[in-house]
Amino acid sequence: MRQGSAWVSACRRLYSTFPDSTRDPTESTVYNPKATSYSQKRAVPLRSEFSKSKLWDVKGPIPKITLNTEKLGPSDRTYPTFWLRDHCQCSECIHPDTKQRILDTFSIPEDVEFLDVNYEEESAKIKWSDGHTGTYPYAFLKEHQFGARRSTLNPVTFRPFGSVKADSKTFPTVSYESVMENDQGVLEWIEQIHKWGFCFVKGVPIDPEKTKTLIERIAFIRHTHYAGGFWDFTSDLTFKDTAYTSEFLGAHTDNTYFTDPARLQLFHLLSHTHGEGGESLLVDGFKAAEVLLQENHQHAEILACLETSAHSSGNESVCIQPAYGTHVFHTVPRSNQLYMVRWNNYDRAPKSDWNMKQQKAWYDAARHWNEIIKRPEMEIWTQLEPGTALIFDNWRMLHGRSEFTGKRRMCGGYVNNDDFVSRHRLLKFGRERALNTLGVNPDPLDWPQEY
Ligand SMILES: [Fe+2]
Ligand SMILES: [Zn+2]
Repeated sequence: MRQGSAWVSACRRLYSTFPDSTRDPTESTVYNPKATSYSQKRAVPLRSEFSKSKLWDVKGPIPKITLNTEKLGPSDRTYPTFWLRDHCQCSECIHPDTKQRILDTFSIPEDVEFLDVNYEEESAKIKWSDGHTGTYPYAFLKEHQFGARRSTLNPVTFRPFGSVKADSKTFPTVSYESVMENDQGVLEWIEQIHKWGFCFVKGVPIDPEKTKTLIERIAFIRHTHYAGGFWDFTSDLTFKDTAYTSEFLGAHTDNTYFTDPARLQLFHLLSHTHGEGGESLLVDGFKAAEVLLQENHQHAEILACLETSAHSSGNESVCIQPAYGTHVFHTVPRSNQLYMVRWNNYDRAPKSDWNMKQQKAWYDAARHWNEIIKRPEMEIWTQLEPGTALIFDNWRMLHGRSEFTGKRRMCGGYVNNDDFVSRHRLLKFGRERALNTLGVNPDPLDWPQEY
């Protein structure tokens, strides 16, 4: 609570120093806790006044419509009336080119009524009391059944995924030619990354430009403070980060300090001369999270809810921190489905806005996690070679490498999550289904029936 009251008094200090110019000039500018000006209201912690469960305590019955047509299959066909009017898919309500809503939701009468329905071949046409006749493709309605997917009480749940064993002799691999040849090759590559968390690409020309073009088959390369997108470097500490040395690098994820860490990273070793070592390490963060959950439910919960922070500030011109505290396990709020593992003890920022018990609980849970990711059965070791690129899911796989001697030249780049998922969705489902499943949670890419 210390933090909360410090924040409130800081706000009060700020607002009492800068009197609100919109305030009645006859009113005193001295801070008055009973005043109702906008700026002073902001200093009140709103949450404390409400119990969260009361937020949805809506009065009165909620108008609903049940669509009686076999075309919707056996599942629930009941939709809230206002929601359905607001989600009309006709070209007057959704712009046919931009796919953005053009209908002004709040111009619809709150008590809009259903008048009539006509079940056509591909869609239901609904007549509304506001004079509009709406179009609802069955494919759209099926994807948006209410209450079809439920939330769960587990602190962490998982989408279906495959995990490569540490002693495996073969790894998910695609060929450079197939990826460059057509979109089917790109989809196969993306599916391997989505399922296993990583994939090798064989037969890549030992050339930075060609490697760059390979990454761009998925999406454009993300710029960072390390490089203008695509990077190509030798181990010389040009950038003040452990990754640019020749030392051992323990398993970690990259970009824990960004509000939105990069989703993919690709490495291509272009040369390694006058030395040895530098094997690559991969650890499946989803599998490790499953192990932690089985061994200690509470530890998993702590890593899914207690926040820490991270930073990148080695170079003179950089001092980056994420906009909010980060967790080791980031889960979708409603389903608790794990979508991101963030673990980089090198980049963890000091944290003191927690109490004695919380910090102890966090260290206990993190110690357990750290022990799991270092187990030999969790560590996948491979040796990178010129001509074979490695791409991995940085929201899932931890990576590292052993110490090396000599001179290594590596190139690679990052890809954003959103652009990766967009490419995956369109290649897998085609544009029509991708549009019909907009807003559907969990993401159709993660539905078990797709596997
Ligand atoms: Fe890294
Ligand atoms: Zn419409």
